[in-house]
Amino acid sequence: MTNSEAAKIGIVTVSDRASRGEYEDRGGPAIEDYLGEVLASNWIPVARVIPDELSTITETLIELSDQQQCCLIVTTGGTGPAKRDITPEATLAVAEKEMPGFGELMRKVSLEKVATAILSRQTAVIRGSSLIVNLPGQPKAIQECLDAVFPAIPYCIDLLEGPYLETNADRLVAFRPKKK
Ligand code: MTE
Repeated sequence: MTNSEAAKIGIVTVSDRASRGEYEDRGGPAIEDYLGEVLASNWIPVARVIPDELSTITETLIELSDQQQCCLIVTTGGTGPAKRDITPEATLAVAEKEMPGFGELMRKVSLEKVATAILSRQTAVIRGSSLIVNLPGQPKAIQECLDAVFPAIPYCIDLLEGPYLETNADRLVAFRPKKK
């Protein structure tokens, strides 16, 4: 992919009520706003709002990874202990590799803000050339979690041979090890 081609980024809101239109999806737009602030290179969102159903989540993640070729897929919601929460299981079901550091770091920084951060089972995985990252459903969790892990995401996508993501350095500096 050349620099001028827009990187596709999947944004998946997992929520029974938002998918039925019972309330407005605030998580997906919050992720889109965050990426709009942080990314300096071209990108386009591929957004989905789906219920907390294992098969729907796995099918959506597979479509965004295999067909849409999203370099990054961010989910929001369904990471907690409630009966319908199933996003981490669906994410692991489509995984080729688990990236446990993402969940560990997001829970660590979130715990400094809210004691209930330990209730999120959020994780991250690799499928093909896609990095899939789970976020909790609370819109305010989106910035808290992405600020922690986003500095490592452009280099992760480099290693997956995806598009070269550039960030607005005044907002967030991406970490790339210096070439030897
Ligand atoms: N992490 C951050 N940064 N901020 C939050 O407000 N909420 C917690 C936790 N992690 C929260 C957070 C709560 S209350 C729950 S129940 C879990 O995320 C799971 O949320 P989810 O089921 O909406 O994904």
